[in-house]
Amino acid sequence: MAGIVHLIDHPLVQHKLTLMRKKSASVNSFTRLLDELSTLMAYEITRDMPMHTVEIETPLATMQSRLIDGKKIVLVPILRAGLGFLSGMRSVVPGARVGHIGLYRDPKTLGAIEYYFKMPSGMKDRDAIVLDPMLATGNSAIAAVDRLKETKPKSIRFVCLLTCPEGLKNFHDNHPDVPVYTAAIDQGLNDHGYIVPGLGDAGDRIFGTK
Ligand code: URA
Repeated sequence: MAGIVHLIDHPLVQHKLTLMRKKSASVNSFTRLLDELSTLMAYEITRDMPMHTVEIETPLATMQSRLIDGKKIVLVPILRAGLGFLSGMRSVVPGARVGHIGLYRDPKTLGAIEYYFKMPSGMKDRDAIVLDPMLATGNSAIAAVDRLKETKPKSIRFVCLLTCPEGLKNFHDNHPDVPVYTAAIDQGLNDHGYIVPGLGDAGDRIFGTK
């Protein structure tokens, strides 16, 4: 079964992504653009989030109006590059809880190895949004979602900036029920498992560690 992919091709998202891809972008502008971009992507990702009705007083009348169930959302950055998505998303969903998954890629096998996992309580009532800028081989995304599913959240979405056909296929072969939200689907992977043309190592570009 093929999984669902939401390509967020809004001009503002594409414009900022182009600026981020440039190798001349400084750490400062890369992180600022990622912050802005994740806020814009949050609109699309939360489009069908559950809402509840509350009674409020406007200056003129009492009315029934709707609020998002922000506390039911758990944002799950995959460490460390996923952290770059966090503040932009939290600025639009401030009530969201945050869980962390620490994974690193074995440079030889490109397999994902877990070193940290911490989720808020009550996962069964929560909608999880997994954050990782690059869905490349798909191995760490698959491992993160495997682990997250053990906590039985109500729903899971996966958000990235960039992906590629082989990463998407690998991910959806393993998790056909998890929709992917992305700003671009690039050509493919190089021999080191990097997305081409991509934007390089997202973690290094966010944290200035190159
Ligand atoms: N991780 C990155 O940071 N960049 C890639 O292109 C692939 C994986």
